[in-house]
Amino acid sequence: MIGMIYAISPEGVIGLAGRIPWHHPGDLRRFQRITLGATVISGRATFDSVGKPLRNRRNIVVTSRPLAVAGVETAATLVEAIERAGVGGDVWLIGGARIYEEGMKYADVIDVTYVPDPVDAPNAVRAPPIDETVF
Ligand SMILES: NC(=O)c1ccc[n+]([C@@H]2O[C@H](COP(=O)([O-])OP(=O)(O)OC[C@H]3O[C@@H](n4cnc5c(N)ncnc54)[C@H](OP(=O)(O)O)[C@@H]3O)[C@@H](O)[C@H]2O)c1
Repeated sequence: MIGMIYAISPEGVIGLAGRIPWHHPGDLRRFQRITLGATVISGRATFDSVGKPLRNRRNIVVTSRPLAVAGVETAATLVEAIERAGVGGDVWLIGGARIYEEGMKYADVIDVTYVPDPVDAPNAVRAPPIDETVF
């Protein structure tokens, strides 16, 4: 199973200035619970915003640049990351926007949390639209 998981504001925002512009501990706990034991694939900026691998998960970061962090594997493309993850276990694509956009064609499920916090910022990072005839 390949899933994508994210939280969005009413405007469809997922990130602002390299971070998530709200704090909902319950959502973070749910994210932990769902992704525990799985392989998580992220873009470089999402990894940098956390700064370390997520515990008890296999971490693969998509990047064209070197990244030498213990417990983190890298891949040059999303396809390579998915191939590296292999079959058999769950794989979650955990952001950001380009990973979600490209991931639409590989994902079996999309898990979206709608947070109520308005984010009024034209430079914010937005989630791509979901084709509801597919998901
Ligand atoms: N609300 C949520 O649930 C949620 C979840 C995740 C992240 N976020 C937020 O989203 C923001 C980061 O997202 P972002 O879209 O700006 O960045 P991102 O996707 O995390 O990282 C972008 C970088 O990752 C690499 N990359 C990503 N997709 C790629 C692809 N398909 N093929 C090749 N390389 C790829 C490239 O790295 P190189 O330049 O090194 O080659 C690219 O510059 C942050 O604010 C973060 O906090 C929010």
